[in-house]
Amino acid sequence: MKLSSKFSSTTNYTRKQINLYTKLTSRGVKYLNNQIAKEKFVKVTDKTYSIIEREKEHMSFTTRVPYYPLVVDKARGSIVTDIEGNEFIDFLSSAAAVNTGHNHPKVVEAIVGQVNKFIHYTPAYMYHEPHIDLAEKLIEITPGKFKKRVAFGLSGSSSVDGAIKAARSYTNRKKIISYLRSYHGTTCGAISVSGYGPDMKRKINSQLSDIEFIPYPDCYRCISNQKYPSCNLTCFKYLETLLDTVIPPEEVAAIILEPIQGDAGVITPPQEYYDRLVDLCRRHNILIIADEVQTGFGRTGKMFACEHFNLEPDIIVLGKAIASGMPFKGKVKLLFQSAEELGTGADELIEAGEIDDIDGLYGIHRGL
Ligand SMILES: Cc1ncc(COP(=O)(O)O)c(C=O)c1O
Repeated sequence: MKLSSKFSSTTNYTRKQINLYTKLTSRGVKYLNNQIAKEKFVKVTDKTYSIIEREKEHMSFTTRVPYYPLVVDKARGSIVTDIEGNEFIDFLSSAAAVNTGHNHPKVVEAIVGQVNKFIHYTPAYMYHEPHIDLAEKLIEITPGKFKKRVAFGLSGSSSVDGAIKAARSYTNRKKIISYLRSYHGTTCGAISVSGYGPDMKRKINSQLSDIEFIPYPDCYRCISNQKYPSCNLTCFKYLETLLDTVIPPEEVAAIILEPIQGDAGVITPPQEYYDRLVDLCRRHNILIIADEVQTGFGRTGKMFACEHFNLEPDIIVLGKAIASGMPFKGKVKLLFQSAEELGTGADELIEAGEIDDIDGLYGIHRGL
């Protein structure tokens, strides 16, 4: 393939190339360039750029957020090797999907064992024991000792959709409150409750109605320019005022939150915020949906981020690391306080390997 001239015979990144293929801020680009100039720690040739060119030509960029011209060749544990032979420490863990490390031997063994038996049989119609094993394990390890049920779906985003449906149908209420700067995924429901940025929503008309956004307890970037605790949680006061003046609380089905806001910059709220939120929600019978797609399975040092705050959500949404990077279905988990049937449908096979995956998490995390 003939490459465009700007990429030919390249050995190191140039500022232009990084700018072109990354979403880094100019400060980030400057930093990277300096590092590269100093260390010369990565080499990239036409081999890499030809693949990037092919992708640009044939794949829609709607689902892409390219960070870095790294074409993965192989990955083991925390090391990713690109097709040039460069090695990287994967702090990203493939976007928090492989918290036990790449190709954990127990996970590989379990996957191979399952594939040799059968790949898929819809659990909507028949039964499959590892599927139930996994549900029981999740009930055991997730916060809260109340009666729970588990529903499996297709992805983190579809589980957020399922959580919204479950909350609305269970409470018979319509309104959902979400947070500014939150990220909940890419399906229509998940986009509707995301407050991450207008690029996610621009020109998309079919968003859910009855979604309200409030400021997240973000002490790093306080919306009212105050400091905790002297602010007396103005952000919480905003929610109280909203319910006092605009939204009847008895019409609110749920508040959906990331216990630690991930894509917003890993923002950890003060404990007091959650104490007051739980109190408010219990008073008005508003459900709390915790989206732990990113923070779950050991990512924050506990199995679930809710545990840092003694927060027992009514619905917990899981995904990503539960399948250790396999594009298996069955990443959606809704654990519900009541014994009501949720009827979310779309159940799928869960591989036996996922139980091993959960067992391995604490050790891996301590190792990091
Ligand atoms: C907090 C959070 N919720 C939901 C999602 C969506 O998950 P998925 O990409 O599996 O649809 C993500 C993905 O990054 C996430 O970080």
